[in-house]
Parts: sequence; C-alpha cells; structure tokens
Amino acid sequence: MPKERSRFVCQACGAVTPKWLGRCEACGEWNSIIEETRPVLPAGNGGGLVFVDLAGEDAPVARVATGIAELDRTLGGGFVPASAVLIGGDPGIGKSTLMLQAAAALARQGKRVLYISGEESPAQIRMRARRLGLQDSPLQLAAATALAEIAPTLAATSEAALVVIDSIQTLRHDALDSPPGSLTQVRACGMELVKLAKNGGFALTLVSHVTKDGTLAGPRALEHMVDAVLYFEGDRGHQFRILRGVKNRFGATDEIGVFEMTERGLAEVANPSALFLAERRGNIAGSAVFAGLEGTRPVLMEVQALLAPDSGGSPRRSVLGWEPGRLAMLLAVLEARCGLKFSGQDVFLNIAGGLKVNEPAADLAVAAALISAASGTPTDAGAVFFGEVGLSGEIRQVAQVEARLKEAAKLGFRSAFLPRRLARGNRAAAPPEGFALTEIGHLSDLLAKLGVRS
Ligand code: TYD
Ligand code: MG
Repeated sequence: MPKERSRFVCQACGAVTPKWLGRCEACGEWNSIIEETRPVLPAGNGGGLVFVDLAGEDAPVARVATGIAELDRTLGGGFVPASAVLIGGDPGIGKSTLMLQAAAALARQGKRVLYISGEESPAQIRMRARRLGLQDSPLQLAAATALAEIAPTLAATSEAALVVIDSIQTLRHDALDSPPGSLTQVRACGMELVKLAKNGGFALTLVSHVTKDGTLAGPRALEHMVDAVLYFEGDRGHQFRILRGVKNRFGATDEIGVFEMTERGLAEVANPSALFLAERRGNIAGSAVFAGLEGTRPVLMEVQALLAPDSGGSPRRSVLGWEPGRLAMLLAVLEARCGLKFSGQDVFLNIAGGLKVNEPAADLAVAAALISAASGTPTDAGAVFFGEVGLSGEIRQVAQVEARLKEAAKLGFRSAFLPRRLARGNRAAAPPEGFALTEIGHLSDLLAKLGVRS
C-alpha cells in the first residue's frame, strides 16, 4: 500500500507549501490554503526508461485546420490531434460562439466532432447555430456536466477529430466534494480529459471563463496541463475580438486572430489595421498612429491623448489599453528632458478601438500624441510612429522595422517617425517606394520635427 502524505495547496493560485499558512506566500490570498493528501510512490519500481537521440527524425505534426484562418493561425496551423487547448476569456465575450463555429466547420469537412455543453441545452445551441447559419452541419451535441458520464463516453469514442467542452467550470468529478468551478474540481476534471485526449487521439478544447481581474482559479491551474492556451479578449462595448495565443507547444505564441462580432456570429477580420483606424479623424491634436506588432503580425492603431486642466487635488492619469506605469515614465521623461509641463493637468490616454498594447515600441507614438496634445498641433495624418523611449529621452531600436513600414504603406501612409536605423551589413533596407523616413535619435528631435519648441 502506498503511504499517504499530506501537503497544503493554495486554492487561489495552486501554490504548494509544506505547512498550513493563513495567507498564501505566493499570491497573497487569505484563508485559501487547504490540506490535501496524495499517495507516495512505493520505492524500487524497476525503472526502464528508454532514451532516444536528439538528432532523430519525426513525422511533421499533423494539423486539423478549421478553415477559419484567424483561428487556425493562432493555433499554429490548426488543431493538433491528441492535444489539448484551453480557450479562456470573460463571460459573454464569444467563446461559445467561436467554438461552435469552429466545431461546425470541422464537422462539415466530414470529421467527427463532439460538442459537450454544461451551460446550454441542445435546443439553445441549435437556436444559436440557426442564427449563425450552421444548422446543417453534422456536429454532435450533448448536454452534460458529470465527468462520470463524459469520460467513459469519450474513452469509448473512436475517430473523433475534435471534442469541445463548454465549459470546464461546469464539470463535476464525483469523487470530490468541492463545488464545480473550484480549483480542485477544475484541475481534476481537466487532468482526466487531457489524458483521454492523449489516449483517444482527438483534439480537446476546454472553454474556461476568466473574470476581469483573472481571479478565477481554473484557467491558471489548467494552463500548465494543456498544450496551447488561447485567450479571447475584447471590450464588450466594441465589436471586435482578439484571440491571443499565450502558450503553444506546437507553434509560435503571441500570434493573434482578429474577429468582429456581428449579428451572424464572429466574422474574420483579415485587415485589422483598417478596422482599428476606421474612425480616425485627421487634423486633431493629440492623435498619432502607432505601427505595432502583434505576434508576427503588423497592426496599426491610433493613440489618443487628451490634456485637461486638473480639477484640484492630484492630477489624474487615466489609461486605456496601455500600461499606466509606462505613461508615468514617459510624462516624467518629457518633463525632465524636453521641458514640457504636465503637472497641474489631467492626462487621458486611449488606444482607440479597445486593443491592449504591450510593446515598448508604442512609446514614440504615445510621446507624439502627448506632445501634439500639449502643443495643440496635430501630427502629420499620413505618418506612423514607433520606437522605444529610454529614461534619458533617447529613442531605442525596435524589432521588425520593415514589416511595420510595409503595413503602413499598404494602408496608404506615406511617412514614418522611427529610431535611427542601424545599417545591417552595408546599409539599412530601403523603405517602401515613395515612403519618407524621419529618424529620431532623441525626444527633443521629435519635438523639433513636429514643429513644437521645447
Ligand atoms: P457567447 O459565445 O455566448 O460568449 P461566452 O461563451 O464567451 O460567454 O457570446 C455571447 C455574446 O455574443 C452575447 O452577448 C451575444 C453576442 N452574439 C452576437 O452578437 N452575435 C451572434 O451571432 C452570437 C451568437 C452572439
Ligand atoms: Mg459560453
């Protein structure tokens, strides 16, 4: 008989400690640590690991492409048989819609696809499918929440290409007392289903809700046991949605797929830059277009800045779609190195359209928008901006200059403000034809080039 040994697991973040604590040292949550017992392997089981050479050949990973290009690309080319994908996102963002569209598309290709919902009845799913024009797809539906029902069915199913579980938070493992959606349940059910996918050779998709602050226990605990993690993001007030790959054992991470939520479901957006810039008005002070990069994909978006006299007390710094800390740094650099004054003013910064930008390359566009707002001088409406700003005001290199310029040229922009280009080999690559480049070494150059005196 293996001996039982206990350990203490934080139910909020999954951290394991050898003793009970009132507060988890890893995530800071109070009263979240619970004792769990786990069996200990008996010693001396024989071993017998077989090692192989690193240089060995393998067959290329087979892919099951849905035909929805934005999804396939984010997955790295399609679903991989015998692997598990986690799709996380806020409730109501469109996870079920996306998975229904993907599952129905695969089923239409003649593949066996199972859609198991713990949230909606087949009647509700059929209603949605009709609205999406998918009702003729030979997709197989079931409503279930008991793992005791689902697991044996999947174990006995052969030849399924894709199994969708919507959502992992609704499943219940009968051996556990904790409620559905709790960390223990989510982890146990996830583990069981992933094992079934590996054995059964089907691609498994686990849909999982995340709350705004990411506090829900489930997804974090699942991330390490699945092969790929995609997050579906977007602002409910806006129509477009971003599917972002944050982990992928079979492909590149940081890929994005862009969709638009319409009355007839999610439509692919092949040209996101055009969508993000659709409502831009030229000739307004405080706006600058950033030539950004999402994964391998260049995306243009508008940065908007607004200054207002502060209403007393400490001035407000309000940021949407960018890091507040980075805005504070840029304001400090603009004050210290360029002599601009922002104290006594409220500063509002917005990445138009609801996109979230993580790239430091956005610094130069944000600086341009701020300078433009402070001086009341619009930036050149035909120009894009990119470059990282350092603490002394210097403009630093960023990756993929050519891809950014090409995207800008494609959308009709005619010039770019960018870091000094380092010649690679003999010379820097030529810009697209008819495209003017303004190289910026320091923020004060940017002020001068925008026609603002510091
Ligand atoms: P849903 O896929 O149910 O979200 P999740 O599974 O992530 O909770 O999407 C729900 C929202 O999408 C809902 O508010 C209505 C909207 N929607 C559309 O706008 N058009 C459509 O065709 C569908 C099916 C949903
Ligand atoms: Mg749903």
